[in-house]
Amino acid sequence: MSDDIVGVLERELGAGAIVGPGHERLDDYGRDESPLPEFYPPLCAVLVESVDMASAVLRICAERKVPVTPRGAGSGMCGGALPVAGGIVLSTERMKKILEIDAGDLIARVEPGVITGHLQEAVEAQQLFYPPDPASLEYCSIGGNVATNAGGPRAFKYGVTREYILGLEVALMGGEVLRCGRRTAKGVTSYDLVAGFVGTEGTFGVITELLVKLLPYPPAAATILGVFSDVPTAGAAINALLRDGLRPRVLELADKNSVDYVRPKTRYRFPANAGAIVLIEVDGEPDTMTMQMEKIGMRCDDLGAIDVLAATEPAERRAVWEARRLISPALKEGWKIKVNEDVCVPRGRIVEMLARVDRVSAETGIATAVFGHAGDGNLHVNLLSNDNPDDPDVRAKMWAAAEQVFIHCVALGGTLSGEHGVGLTKRDYIPLEQSEQLIGWQRKWKAMWDPQGLLNPGKRLPLQRNACSE
Ligand code: MLT
Ligand code: ZN
Repeated sequence: MSDDIVGVLERELGAGAIVGPGHERLDDYGRDESPLPEFYPPLCAVLVESVDMASAVLRICAERKVPVTPRGAGSGMCGGALPVAGGIVLSTERMKKILEIDAGDLIARVEPGVITGHLQEAVEAQQLFYPPDPASLEYCSIGGNVATNAGGPRAFKYGVTREYILGLEVALMGGEVLRCGRRTAKGVTSYDLVAGFVGTEGTFGVITELLVKLLPYPPAAATILGVFSDVPTAGAAINALLRDGLRPRVLELADKNSVDYVRPKTRYRFPANAGAIVLIEVDGEPDTMTMQMEKIGMRCDDLGAIDVLAATEPAERRAVWEARRLISPALKEGWKIKVNEDVCVPRGRIVEMLARVDRVSAETGIATAVFGHAGDGNLHVNLLSNDNPDDPDVRAKMWAAAEQVFIHCVALGGTLSGEHGVGLTKRDYIPLEQSEQLIGWQRKWKAMWDPQGLLNPGKRLPLQRNACSE
C-alpha cells in the first residue's frame, strides 16, 4: 500500500512541500546530532506549514501503513528524529510563526518550528522571560524541546520545558487534531494530557501549536566561576552552598579533562592546577543579587577555591560562560568519536558518579570528560575515542562503556537520561532502569495513540521481536 506514497503526498500537499528522491537535501533528513555513523534515508521529507498539512500527512500515511518520523530542527542527540523504519519524515521546520505574545496573561502562542533562542529574544524585547536554555538554543526548535522535555543550565532554578507548556495542539496518527491544556495559570478539569505529550519524542503525535508560560524578565544577573583543585573539593563546595540555602539559577560542574580541553580556547587563563570548575549564576533584584554573588564568592574561597571570578556586565558574563559553552565543541573537534550521555543521579551522588566514570575509563582505556548541570545531578559523560568510527568493534566497545556508565548511574539511584531523551541510542538500555511492568504500561499507552505502531517506530522503548523493521 505504500507504493508511490511520494506521488500521493505531492498531489495532496503540493510539490513544494516535498523533499523527494534525488533531492540534494533528502540525506539531511536521515541524520541528526547523535553519535551514530549510520544514516537512515527516508522515502521523502514533507515540510508542513500548517496543522491541516500535518493532519493530511498523518491520515494518508495511516491509510497506507507508511511509517512517519516527526522532526523539528534535527538537533537531537539520541537519534529520536531518525527514520529508522524508512517511510517519511514529517518536518515542522517551516512552522516558525510566533502567533502571539501576551504580557498580561504571561503567555506566548507559537508554532513548533520556532527556534528557541528566537522565542527568547522576542519575549525579552517585552521584558518577559522564557527560561529553558538548552545548549543548542540557537538552532533547536521549541517543538523539539517539548518532544524531549529539554532542560539546560537554568533548569536548576526554573525547571525544564514541561513546566512552561500550558497547552498543545497535536495532530494524531490517522489525521485527528486534538487541542489540550489551557491558557490560564491554573486548571485541573482534565487529565493532564499536556504533560502526557511532553517528552514523548514524537511517538504519540505531532505538535503543531504550543501555549507557553512566560515569567517577568529578572532585572539583574551575575555569573561566578569557582576554580577548584579537584572534583571532590568542588562537589563538597556545591553541597555546602546548597546547604547554605542559596538558590542560584545555574549550578554547573566540569571535571579536569573538560577543563584541559577547553583551556587553550578560552579568554580566561585557568590556573595550572585547575582540576574542576563550578559555574554559578544568580538573578533577581540588583541588591539581593549582589548580596548573593558576594556571599557565593566568599563561600567558594572558604571552601577551597583556587580562583574565583565574578561578572555582572553582559560581556564579562559571556566571557565566563565561554569556559562552559566551549567544552562540548572542543571535545567534538578533538575526537573522532564523542558519545555524550546525560545521566542524572541524586545530587548527593555526583562525586561518586564521577569517580565511577574514572573507573570505567581506567577499565576500558576510553578517555572521558564529564561536565553538566550539577545542581540537578545531570552529568554529560562524554566517552571519547580517535579510533575509526566506522569500525563495528570500536563502536561496540564505546557502547559497552556507555552501558557500564548506565549501570553505575542506576546503582546510585539515577536515571539514564536527564534531558536529551531516549530516542534510538538509549532505547535498548531502558530495562537497566525500568521494570518489565513499567515498560509494558508504556507500550499500552503508546498503542492507544498509535495502534498501528507507525508513528516514530523503533524509539523510546526497547524493541519487541518483530515490532519494527529496523
Ligand atoms: C550541554 O549541556 O552542553 C548539552 O546538553 C550537551 C552538549 O552539548 O554536549
Ligand atoms: Zn545539558
